[in-house]
Amino acid sequence: MNAALTAVGHAADSEVWRLPGGRQVRLRPLAPEDLCAEKAFFNGLSRDSRQQRFHFGLRELSPALLKLLTDVDQRLHRAWVVEADEPGRRVIADARFVCDPAQPGMAEFALAVADDWQGRGLGRRLIAHLIAQARRQGLRQLYGDVQAENRRMLALMREFGMRLRAHADGAQLVRAVLALDVAAD
Ligand SMILES: CC(C)(COP(=O)(O)OP(=O)(O)OC[C@H]1O[C@@H](n2cnc3c(N)ncnc32)[C@H](O)[C@@H]1OP(=O)(O)O)[C@@H](O)C(=O)NCCC(=O)NCCS
Repeated sequence: MNAALTAVGHAADSEVWRLPGGRQVRLRPLAPEDLCAEKAFFNGLSRDSRQQRFHFGLRELSPALLKLLTDVDQRLHRAWVVEADEPGRRVIADARFVCDPAQPGMAEFALAVADDWQGRGLGRRLIAHLIAQARRQGLRQLYGDVQAENRRMLALMREFGMRLRAHADGAQLVRAVLALDVAAD
């Protein structure tokens, strides 16, 4: 377990985390100025990671998809990025949930961690953050679609108590569902 990732500080809307090995990274809400950094982040993911994040072969983000990912209202569509402790605004992880207009109280989540930053506890920490924020917002349920072969993500989902269900689109996908208790934190 990545037990060594620790929170070392937080402001109203950002948190600093120390990773195993001592490097610090910062979690904060996605901002409009992050457009270029987000483009670099998603286009910099390995083919496998991009496939696991978007579920379709994607060589490069289209302008429309980039707009969808960065034009967020932080109310119904909430998104956060993790920045590396280095000059510039290098995004090393992205996590979000989008409220489902057809199903009040329910939101779909997704996340990705840059390949060279995976395995250091960021994914686990980001999922915990999404769950805490969804609870705080009074949501009833978080759900996300995961590729059936994405064992790492499925193991994480189970760890957080999510139920894994067959997906209507076929056996290549699994729907992870978490019923949220009344806000506890
Ligand atoms: C799935 C993902 C978000 C996990 O993020 P991460 O930062 O690597 O995860 P963590 O470091 O918190 O590790 C969580 C668990 O994953 C497993 N894991 C992490 N890195 C691993 C590696 N290199 N090899 C095998 N297992 C690994 C471990 O079981 C780990 O648990 P442990 O700490 O008990 O060993 C990340 O791999 C990713 O972005 N993948 C591509 C996009 C994606 O799959 N998104 C999810 C669908 S929306």
